[in-house]
Amino acid sequence: MCGIIARVGDGNATETLLSGLENLEYRGYDSAGIAVQNGSGVKVHKCSGDVSDLESTLDSRPSGNVGIGHTRWSTHGPPTDENAHPHTDTAGDVAVVHNGVIDNYDQLRTELQANGHVFESDTDTEVIPHLIDEYRETTGDTEQAVRRAVDTLEGSYAIAAIVDGEERIYAARKGSPLVLGVDDEEWFLASDVPAFLEYTDEVIYLEDGDLVVLEPDSYRLTDLEGNPIDRSVDTVDWDPKDAGKGEYDHYMKKEIHSQPTALSNTIEGRIDDGDVDFADLPPGAFADVESVQLVACGTSYHAAMYGGQLLRAAGIPATALRASEYESVAGPVDENTLVVAVTQSGETADTLEAVRTGSARGGRTLAVTNVVGSTAARETDEAIYIRAGPEVGVAATKTYSSQVVTLALLSQRIAADVPDATPADDRAAMLDALADLPRHVETVLETSRAETLAAETLESEAYVFVGNGFGHSVALEGALKFKEITYEHAEGFASGQLKHGPLALVTEETPLFAVCTGGDDEKTKTNAIEARSRGAPVVAVGPDDHPLCDVADAHLSVPETHPVWAGLLANVQLQLLSYYAAKLLERPIDKPRNLAKSVTVE
Ligand code: F6R
Repeated sequence: MCGIIARVGDGNATETLLSGLENLEYRGYDSAGIAVQNGSGVKVHKCSGDVSDLESTLDSRPSGNVGIGHTRWSTHGPPTDENAHPHTDTAGDVAVVHNGVIDNYDQLRTELQANGHVFESDTDTEVIPHLIDEYRETTGDTEQAVRRAVDTLEGSYAIAAIVDGEERIYAARKGSPLVLGVDDEEWFLASDVPAFLEYTDEVIYLEDGDLVVLEPDSYRLTDLEGNPIDRSVDTVDWDPKDAGKGEYDHYMKKEIHSQPTALSNTIEGRIDDGDVDFADLPPGAFADVESVQLVACGTSYHAAMYGGQLLRAAGIPATALRASEYESVAGPVDENTLVVAVTQSGETADTLEAVRTGSARGGRTLAVTNVVGSTAARETDEAIYIRAGPEVGVAATKTYSSQVVTLALLSQRIAADVPDATPADDRAAMLDALADLPRHVETVLETSRAETLAAETLESEAYVFVGNGFGHSVALEGALKFKEITYEHAEGFASGQLKHGPLALVTEETPLFAVCTGGDDEKTKTNAIEARSRGAPVVAVGPDDHPLCDVADAHLSVPETHPVWAGLLANVQLQLLSYYAAKLLERPIDKPRNLAKSVTVE
């Protein structure tokens, strides 16, 4: 939710800010802005719309070697020019960008207004530059003023501020991500690494309570009391070209097509002699685990369902829980409960809250995430990375596949460690088949008929997705992806549930996508027959000679493989279906309306 970038160094900051914002647009895209400082005042340029709209308002590149930028996903106030960041104090000497939510802004605003501060927006953020200005008056020192200002704020924030006449950036974080990029000649701050990856891969992940001051030739990190702190510099192993669209029209298509590579990276070095080996979690690491709770939201929840099913199949009590419901559905938790946060970004507020609750109740916590240094990775007892590389399209694609594979590996690692568990009888066959998965995804991408099918079914009233077992979670994910980027009505159901109500929706105008995996697909086949007899076009999504193909009108084919992986391959077909339907409908595929990739508010 919202992306921020800041840069200080020699030369003009504007290009870096604009390209950084483009790479952060997945975090919000309803307004954008930059502010630069060049010794003759702080210059702010902002507007509603996305970064390209901002660029078109700039006659020339504003000059200044120190700057901040923001791309917004609205929380307080509609996406207007006034509500776009950066925000300034009354005189326009202090400019601030902010990601997060200030809970006590109302009270602060009233107090500041009583002291003569004039506000121009509806946002919670605007109190921050006014507070800094107020405390500069009283302390005579900007760094102290920033420290006092953030100390006054309640809620969550990652902020970056610039001040007229100072060649510096001040920044702080609490509850919202902020990462420092370290280069020989310039420094960067951003909500996420892709914002500056083309310039440096050396990073420092800031932590809650950190305050940083960047100058052209140095940076200083302190806590809120002003005590110096030391943080290690990490090297990110993401490729800068991963951050751009490359030859593709959309990030989503690029990310769908990069799944063979992403999956190879997910698997690499983790299967050793028919066993699963996570370097930091050696055999025996999970010997005490008696039950597993997988907490997640949206697409990650669908991946968690997949993982939960594999764990249960191995005899380990496991549940996938919607993170937003965790408080009321978690049930008993103790030190033998493993609470797994499944989160691509590692920053989803509901997922973080759930895993914190699990930890407070005595559970052991683990993050399965894509983002090194993310809040989930730092706050949990252990982390396993899915290694999918940066995902920019708002609709999660490659990270879902890498999550499923990571969770499948985790399930077999836990099953091998827990004395009473029964690792999949055919574990060797399943892990062998995993080695072929990247190649099978490649085949799906090369041979898919999803584009044709998307065109043939485009005029439908609604889209129904059904499946059983692994196919159920894939059906839910297929429907989520479809509605998310096409804005068409799509619903996913467990096959056995169709006749308990949803069948009333099925007509000649509602194609039914039946996900079959080669596992227990009988109920799904029954659904297909029932839907077809009511005139609905039926599309089988699964292996070629599957019995479901006999009762279907069309087929999205997946290569023959182990049933555990057939669902994942079927999902790749459904990703392509959604993509092409959205393309034909001319939807803004990478930035669907009202959504943001990283949902950092509850
Ligand atoms: C849908 C989508 C979302 C995310 C959800 C959780 O395509 O991307 O449903 O899966 O917001 O995000 P993470 O995995 O970052 O916790």
